[in-house]
Parts: sequence; C-alpha cells; structure tokens
Amino acid sequence: MSRTDRDMVLGVFFNYTGHHVASWLHPEACADAGVNWAHFKEISQAAERGKFHFIFFADWLAVRLASEAALSRSSQYTAHFEPLTLLGAIAAVTERIGLICTATTSYNEPYHVARKFASLDFISGGRAGWNVVTSANPAEAWNFGKEKHYVREDRYDRAREFVEVVKGLWDSWDDDAFVRDRESGIYFDPGKVHTLDHKGKHFSVRGPLNVPRAPQGHPVIVQAGASEFGKDFAAQTAEIVFVAPPDMKAAQGFYADLKGRMAQYGRSPDELKILPGLNVIVGETEAEADAKYDFLQSRIHPQVGKEILSTILGGVDLSSYDIDDPLPELPDSDEAQGGTRKFVVEMAKRENLTIKDLYLRLAGARGKRTIKGSVKRVADEMEEWFVEGACDGFITQPAYLPGSMDDFIDLVIPELQRRGLFQRDYRGATLRDNLGFKRPKSRWQEKTT
Ligand SMILES: Cc1cc2nc3c(=O)[nH]c(=O)nc-3n(C[C@H](O)[C@H](O)[C@H](O)COP(=O)(O)O)c2cc1C
Repeated sequence: MSRTDRDMVLGVFFNYTGHHVASWLHPEACADAGVNWAHFKEISQAAERGKFHFIFFADWLAVRLASEAALSRSSQYTAHFEPLTLLGAIAAVTERIGLICTATTSYNEPYHVARKFASLDFISGGRAGWNVVTSANPAEAWNFGKEKHYVREDRYDRAREFVEVVKGLWDSWDDDAFVRDRESGIYFDPGKVHTLDHKGKHFSVRGPLNVPRAPQGHPVIVQAGASEFGKDFAAQTAEIVFVAPPDMKAAQGFYADLKGRMAQYGRSPDELKILPGLNVIVGETEAEADAKYDFLQSRIHPQVGKEILSTILGGVDLSSYDIDDPLPELPDSDEAQGGTRKFVVEMAKRENLTIKDLYLRLAGARGKRTIKGSVKRVADEMEEWFVEGACDGFITQPAYLPGSMDDFIDLVIPELQRRGLFQRDYRGATLRDNLGFKRPKSRWQEKTT
C-alpha cells in the first residue's frame, strides 16, 4: 500500500567521478571516469537495475572558472565527454531508464537542439529529456564570440522563445506523416508536414525539422533555475524541476511557490515533478556511514575546500584568510545565490564556524545537503520530505561512483519499495509513461480537433 496516492520519482545525477569534491581520490572510484565508456555503461545499467526513472548529465560549455591550484586538484567540471553523444551510446545498452542531459539556450540554436533531442528520443525508444539551462558560468561566453554572458533577464527572454521554437520544430511532422508506401511510391504525405515560419525577437526559423515527430511527441522538458525568472519559466514550460534547497522548510516554500505559479499558464500542478538534489552516504549502521563520510572528507584539499566555499558564497575572495579564521563579514547576498549565502553566513555565526569548519561541512557536496546514516535514517527523511509537500521525489547525487550509487540501490531502494513509496518496476516504455505524463498533442492537431 502506498502512503500517498503517487509514487516517488527518483533520478540519478552522474557527476563523472561522483558529487563529492574528493570523489576521484577514493580508491574504488574511476579516476578517468569523464572519458571512460566502460564506466558509463556499467553505472547506467546498474541505475536501470535499481529502477531509477532516469539518469542525468549536467553540462557547461567551458572549463570551470577557478584558481589553477584548486582546479588542478579537481575532477569535476573540467574535461569529460559531451553528454548527448554519451547518452546516444547509453541508449544502446539500456532499455527502460530515462536519459536526460543539459543543453543551454544561450549558446545553441533551437534547430540544433530540437534535432539532437528528437534523434535521441528515437534511438532510445522514447526516453529522452532536455534540461533547459540559460548557463550560469560566465566563461561560456568567451567560447562563443562574446565578452560577457547575457544578463539574467535577457537570457531567460531568449530561453522562453528558444523553447517555443524547439517545441514548434518537434511538431513539424504529424505522427502519421511518413506512410512509406511502396505500392504508390509515396514516402510521406505532403499534407502532414508543417513549416514553422517563426520570426521572433531572438530567432528566425523556417523549419520544418529534418527529424520526424519523436516517440514521446516532445522529449521531457527539465529545468533548474532558482531565480524569480527561473521559477516563472519553469512554471510555464518545465515537466521536471531540479532544485537545491538548504532544508525542508525552504523546499516546502519552493514547492508551493512553483506549483502555485502554474495555473496562470493553464497548467495543473501534477504536470510538474519537483526534485531536490539528494546527497546520501548510507551504511548498514550509523558507524559505517560515518566511516565512509569521514574518509571522503579527509581527502578534501584546503585549496579545493576554500575555493568551493568561495563559489558557494557567490565568488567572495577568501584568498587572504587562513582556513582557521572565522568567516569574514560579507555584504548581503542578492538573489543570485538563491538564499544559499544567507543560509551559510547565518550558520557560521550561529555555530561560530571557521573557514575550514565551513568548507568541511559544505564543500563535499558543493554546498548541497548530505544525509548521512543508516538506511532507516535516510528512508525516514526522504519519506518525510515526500509526504510533507517538499517534493515529488529526488535527484540523487552519488558521492563517488560506482560505490555510493550501489549502496543506495542495495540498501535504500528496497526499503523505499517495502514502504510502498517507490516503483518495483518500470510502468511503461517511455520516460513520459514512467513519469505518468501524457504524450503532448501536436500544435497542428490541436488546431484541427
Ligand atoms: C540539479 C541541478 C543541475 C543543474 N545543471 C546545470 C547544468 O547542467 N548547466 C548549467 O549551466 N546550470 C545548471 N544548473 C544551474 C541552473 O540551471 C541555474 O542556472 C541555477 O540554478 C541558478 O538559477 P537562475 O539561472 O534562475 O539564476 C543546475 C542546477 C541544479 C540545481
């Protein structure tokens, strides 16, 4: 018996060696994970055995901006496979699990993105999802002929039009356009192809797309913006939202706020799954979980810890401070840090924490929460968030790969299943089926019915 009338959605976010900043130093991690195909094949198949709804790859079109001393000690956000290419290969060695990755609207053209995700949807039999980001990393601009990144308002304005164009291109062909009739020699019905003829502020796109309508109609739209612009954009277009709230109260606030914004766009709250990031270190006992956590924590280099703390605080320069100094006074944060800076500054004051205390607490999971402990503790907390209106599920962020994901699959998933919270098997063939979403009608079909 389910404790709610819906199932928890679980995804797994593959950060190449793992999400913990010291993940690549773990002796059982795959140090060259970013370019190791055998590694991705193994972990994707393991995720499917665990019945995760989907796997997810983030993406940036630049190497992360950081001091050389810190960057040269990091495996994350430096150099790795391009995720759409990688998902094409993973599609061929998996059968049911959803395949989601990021593509930015700031440094792509809609035709490219529509074409690639429609292709992935075909190759995977309807399992593709697109994480729409506007890019937060200013270094991306320098790789695309620009000196400065777009300001937030402009990049969301472009993103809105971008997504509209992509969806329009996905509807270029009616589902039954390709008759491929050898008798008559007709390959497609010319009455079932539509040119988009889009002429807008940012894009001019004639169409049609040179890929037929995809198995899901539209690949699933995912989003992760935390600003006011980001939330409005998500309320309008997203079907999955990733979020990184500092605690359950913040998660509940975000959840109510975002779901509440959907009605103005004619959408119902159950057309969107809100999934907070979840870093779990789990053991058969609390002591075992502590030991796993302490090992990874002991591998955080002070340069790396300090640099990540500075990023979490919104780019504050901490280079002139010793790691045993208290956190210096900081000016009030703006919305860009999504409340994280305020949360960190208050915590440091309240608990009298040094820079080192803070980075040890925060750097492991790059500022995101970590639940550490026994299976019961982890499952209890997940259940509480789920039933108390803080989320529709989680995007799990394994500390190191494959070990932390294997622990989650072996220990936590069976407990969630036992509690009636998580699926024991996939319900359908496509990602939409598995999320309980309808296949969208084509805009042309809508006009004629
Ligand atoms: C789980 C998660 C995954 C994200 N993945 C990416 C990504 O792949 N690429 C990217 O540029 N930003 C990524 N972001 C950042 C968001 O897209 C967004 O820029 C950030 O949350 C700030 O919100 P804002 O753009 O509304 O200011 C991610 C955020 C979260 C929480």
